[in-house]
Amino acid sequence: MPPYAFFHKQFMPLSEAKIGVLTHALHYGTGCFEGIRGYWDSRRNRFCLFRIQDHYKRMLDSSRILRINLPYSVDRLCQLTEELVQRSGYRENVYIRPLAYKSSEAIGVRLHDLDDDFLIIVTTLPPYLDAENGVRCCTSSWRRVDDTMIPPRGKISGIYVNSALAKTEARENGFDEAILLTQDGHVSEGSGENIFLVLGGELITPPSSDNILMGITRDTVMKLAQNELGIDAIERQVDRSELYVAQECFFTGTAANLAPILEVDHRPIGTGKIGKITAKLQKLYAEVALGRNPKYSNWYYLTPPRPAKS
Ligand SMILES: Cc1ncc(COP(=O)(O)O)c(C=O)c1O
Repeated sequence: MPPYAFFHKQFMPLSEAKIGVLTHALHYGTGCFEGIRGYWDSRRNRFCLFRIQDHYKRMLDSSRILRINLPYSVDRLCQLTEELVQRSGYRENVYIRPLAYKSSEAIGVRLHDLDDDFLIIVTTLPPYLDAENGVRCCTSSWRRVDDTMIPPRGKISGIYVNSALAKTEARENGFDEAILLTQDGHVSEGSGENIFLVLGGELITPPSSDNILMGITRDTVMKLAQNELGIDAIERQVDRSELYVAQECFFTGTAANLAPILEVDHRPIGTGKIGKITAKLQKLYAEVALGRNPKYSNWYYLTPPRPAKS
C-alpha cells in the first residue's frame, strides 16, 4: 500500500501531495508541527498512538502563537490521524508528522492576511539517537532562542534553524548531539530533546522559563519517576558545570525516546556508563509507550485492530 497524506482537507497518495515554490512557510519558517510516535502491537494488530491528544493540544497552542487558524478539535485531529495511519497500511512502528502552516503563495514577512493550511504525513523513523549505547555531547556555541525572539514553547518551524546550526556543529566536531545554553548561560535543552540530570540523588530538569520546548516525553518521564520510582523531579535552573559533576544525565524526546548521555565536553558523566536511574526510567518508558500498561491508558489512543494478513 503506498503511504498516504492528509493534504488540502483530503487523503491522497503522499506522492501527489505537493506545495508551490512560493509557499510562505517555505520562505519564512511560518509553520508549526508535531512529531508523534505510533507503536505497532503485532499481537493485537493495532497501533498505540502515544499521547496523541497532548501532541495536538500543543499544536493548537503553537498555531495560536503563529496566528494560524487550525480549524479542527483535538478529537478530530486524532480521528484524521487514525484514518491516515490505517490507510497507509504500515505494520510497524510509525512516526506521524502534522504541519500547520502559512500556505499563501505570497512574498512579504508577516503573520496577518495569509491563508493557513494543515497536512499530516506518516512515515517510519528509527531512534534518532543511540539510546542503547548512550551519546557524547558538547555544549553548543549557539545559544537557544529566547521567548522574546521566537517563543520556544511553540514547536515552530523557523526555530529549527537554531537546532540545525547546533546539531551540525556538534556532529562536525565529532559529537552525537549539542546541548544549548540560554543567553545567560543556563542549560536549556538538546537540539531536539529535553535534558535531565541526576545530581546529589535528585532528578533535575531545566524549567520552562529557560526556553525549553515543554516536552511530552519529559512530562511522561517525570510522572513515571514519581509514580514508579517515588522520585519527584525538580524543575530548576541548571548551570553548565553541573552537567560535568552530575552522576547521570539523559535526553528525552519523541524522536530520541530516552537517550543516556555518557559524556559532555569530553568529561565522562558519573562512571561514563548508563546510570541506574536512567536505566530504570528507560525500561519503564519503553514499556509504557507501547500501550500495554492499563495504568496509563489515558495516554493511549488505540486504533481498531487490523484484519490479520492473508
Ligand atoms: C527542541 C525540542 N525540545 C524537546 C523536544 C522533546 O519534545 P517531545 O518529548 O514532546 O517530543 C523536541 C521534540 O519534539 C524538540 O524538538
